[in-house]
Amino acid sequence: MSTTLNNIPMIELVNVSKRFSKTLDFAGKIAKKLGAPVREEVVHAVDGVNLSVRKGEVVGLVGESGCGKSTLGRMVAGIMPPSDGDIFWQGQNTANLSGAKAKQAKLQTQMIFQDPMSSLNPRLRVSDIIGEAPLVHGLVKRADLETYVDEQMRRAGLDPSYKRRYPHQFSGGQRQRIGIARALAVQPEFLICDESVAALDVSIQAQVLNLFMKLRQDLDLTYLFISHDLSVVEHLSDRVVIMYLGRVVEEAPSEEIFARANHPYTQSLLNAVPRIEARKKAFQVVKGEIPSPLNPPKGCHFHPRCPHAMDRCRVERPALREIAPGHKSACHLNDAA
Ligand SMILES: Nc1ncnc2c1ncn2[C@@H]1O[C@H](COP(=O)(O)OP(=O)(O)O)[C@@H](O)[C@H]1O
Ligand code: SF4
Ligand SMILES: [Mg+2]
Repeated sequence: MSTTLNNIPMIELVNVSKRFSKTLDFAGKIAKKLGAPVREEVVHAVDGVNLSVRKGEVVGLVGESGCGKSTLGRMVAGIMPPSDGDIFWQGQNTANLSGAKAKQAKLQTQMIFQDPMSSLNPRLRVSDIIGEAPLVHGLVKRADLETYVDEQMRRAGLDPSYKRRYPHQFSGGQRQRIGIARALAVQPEFLICDESVAALDVSIQAQVLNLFMKLRQDLDLTYLFISHDLSVVEHLSDRVVIMYLGRVVEEAPSEEIFARANHPYTQSLLNAVPRIEARKKAFQVVKGEIPSPLNPPKGCHFHPRCPHAMDRCRVERPALREIAPGHKSACHLNDAA
């Protein structure tokens, strides 16, 4: 592979937003009919995000529950269109892709979810779960399918002699490996892992994370690794991107984030990571409630929870800007320096 190709981002998001309208419930509709000033509410799940992932890179995307990580992941995977902004896949705007190119982009970007049970068809045998898509898309001939499925299972650390079994006959960790084998079977270049180890026991989490890293080496994969838990992405990400209420607030190479976190939100996430039992951590760890994305705080979204908040923070949105090579942060404190 040439070096110039490596400089092309696998995926690039330019000012991407996603809004969801929350339709009125029954009481809301009646209230509206009676003339009450009720409006449909809009959730800004993702709000003007710029992000790129280079070929071969592992980018960790971190933030508390509800900050828009899955929505962002789904847009990157092409499962959901953005409300605004552009998504470029290997330099081409996905909005303009059609036919074979669109199909290729979709196949080469695979998403691995948190709950393998709900993403695997319980009525299909493992061999069909893994073999269906590559057969449909002409990646393998029917005569070679058995061997092909065996190979994907081995690659994901599963014993191919179990391929006639159904998903419920496997443990949680093995089911996640089935999901991984299914994704690998369509020969992806880019994996989006959305909380892919969050539902697993700590010891199993480590095994699955190791598998992801081995696959990265063996297959030259690129990853967007989504987690609410900073400690999960610490060891496997080249770069970490921190989101808060739909916006990117900080991004930097992994070591830089852990050594020199700039944004007060990232700093509080880091303080919340118990260093010894790093993986045994509960959800909501930063002090204070996560505000509703239906009605986010003005200015810097983080100001109600920020120990350094100033008057300016309550009115003016801080821009995400470079504070050191490759290190960006969105905080007004950086202007004072
Ligand atoms: N399909 C949807 N319809 C309406 N609101 C949604 C939808 N998907 C996500 N949301 C809202 O968007 C926000 C971000 O959700 P999500 O992307 O799932 O966050 P995360 O993955 O970080 O927990 C949340 O407020 C959530 O309720
Ligand atoms: S901009 Fe203000 S409120 Fe936001 S993180 Fe920085 S200091 Fe805190
Ligand atoms: Mg999510």
